Amino acid sequence: MTDRAPGGMPPGEFREWGHRMVDWVAGYLEDVERYPVLAAVEPGQVSAGLAVEAPVRGEPMESIFEDFRSVVLPGITHWNHPGFQAYFAVSGSGPGILGEFLTAALNVNAMVWKASPAATELEQVTLDWLRGFLGLPPGFAGTINDTASISTFHALAAARERGLPEARVRGLSEAPPGRVYATPETHSSILKAVHALGLGRDGARAVATGAGRGMDPAALERAIRDDIAAGRRPLAVVATIGTTSVTAVDPVGEIADVAAEHGLWLHVDAAYAGPAAALPRMRSHFRGWEWADSIVLNPHKWLFTPIDCSVLYVQDPGALHAAFSLTPAYLETGEEGVRHNMDLGLALGRRFRALKLWMVMRYFGQDGLRAILGHHLGLARLLAGLVDAAADWERWRPSPFSLVVLRHSPPGASASERDTANLGIMNRVNAGGTAFLSHTEIDGEVWLRCAIGNIHTMEQHVRATWAALQEAAGRVRLRQPAN
Ligand SMILES: Cc1ncc(COP(=O)(O)O)c(C=O)c1O
Repeated sequence: MTDRAPGGMPPGEFREWGHRMVDWVAGYLEDVERYPVLAAVEPGQVSAGLAVEAPVRGEPMESIFEDFRSVVLPGITHWNHPGFQAYFAVSGSGPGILGEFLTAALNVNAMVWKASPAATELEQVTLDWLRGFLGLPPGFAGTINDTASISTFHALAAARERGLPEARVRGLSEAPPGRVYATPETHSSILKAVHALGLGRDGARAVATGAGRGMDPAALERAIRDDIAAGRRPLAVVATIGTTSVTAVDPVGEIADVAAEHGLWLHVDAAYAGPAAALPRMRSHFRGWEWADSIVLNPHKWLFTPIDCSVLYVQDPGALHAAFSLTPAYLETGEEGVRHNMDLGLALGRRFRALKLWMVMRYFGQDGLRAILGHHLGLARLLAGLVDAAADWERWRPSPFSLVVLRHSPPGASASERDTANLGIMNRVNAGGTAFLSHTEIDGEVWLRCAIGNIHTMEQHVRATWAALQEAAGRVRLRQPAN
């Protein structure tokens, strides 16, 4: 038991524990494969190991750290593990982790320029670098949010503001019903944003897809015309480059033409796939995204920056201002021509997230980042080749990025037998500790997703995943319930 004096942790103790924790983190990253990638705990197991009430008197770091290791760590699913291939694989690289450390130490709240000028300006410069790296034209201004969900919410709020200006004063009750268009493949965050913006469930209209699950621009055109005829107000269209389920690509260029003709806001969701635009050979998938009003991509997904870091680019920052700017007297600071981050979204307070992205971009450089992205694309092609060459396995096509969607498909199996078997295969692989995969449904049938994107993932990890899948398929017999 320790009494704590005002003034916080003594510098000597901070230094000692700082060194110990950096050592621990370095060892963890070096040897993360000694942990099972997926946490093997039962619900409630972690909370059962924790005290019911906060300690009345301060505790020594030694016992706090001990509980971190013995209670918290077993309940961690290791996103840094090279076998993490579920959802979209992410990784906090060394420079990004160190950037987070400095951000926590500085602890600035970059709500207005004056509250930390460097945080505001470094964000603008870093996002200009990133824009150039991705081949986007200079017209785009970037801002960092926590997640793509929030970035998309902000973009659609700006779209609503532009498309339904009457709602600003009188609310939505007297405005015509607004509509946002997206395909059924779109991420759930788009629907959440539409609901949260008061447009209701009917505020989102599903647009049919064509080949490869991309949006059919002709269907979009018809939907908009129908809605106008019915007295609705088309507001925005959301095109995705790299959908969550199978990384489908909407034809953004053609969608942009339709959006322009009807004066709709075009938002591009490239939350996962966006960084691939840095590779000239991948640019064709991004054709037309430069005509978007807004684009979201997450450096915390495929640009080796620790969670959270989502970038929203907009052509017209004034549109975000129109939706969100509201300055109370205590935040009027008087500088001319500076950006105040609070004007660009719902939150007043802002973490200094740009620091870690800046450090990642400087440490790896543009060539280094391109090399890692190219390596991941190569690993995905390797796995695709293994699947294609194997009897009784099939692969979803196309798969333009680093996600491989596959399933075990022995001849003669019914759809439900196949689904049960594939869920069983996934559960066996995940229980094995070397890989963690997730699944999706395509036309109501189960497929397995192997997402390559972790900075530590090498060829041997992809081969290990493939071996684990084959081994599991040999054990999960058809017609039996999956275990
Ligand atoms: C295409 C796409 N958009 C948006 C999101 C939401 O991302 P976030 O968790 O940053 O809100 C995801 C998440 O995987 C995604 O795949």
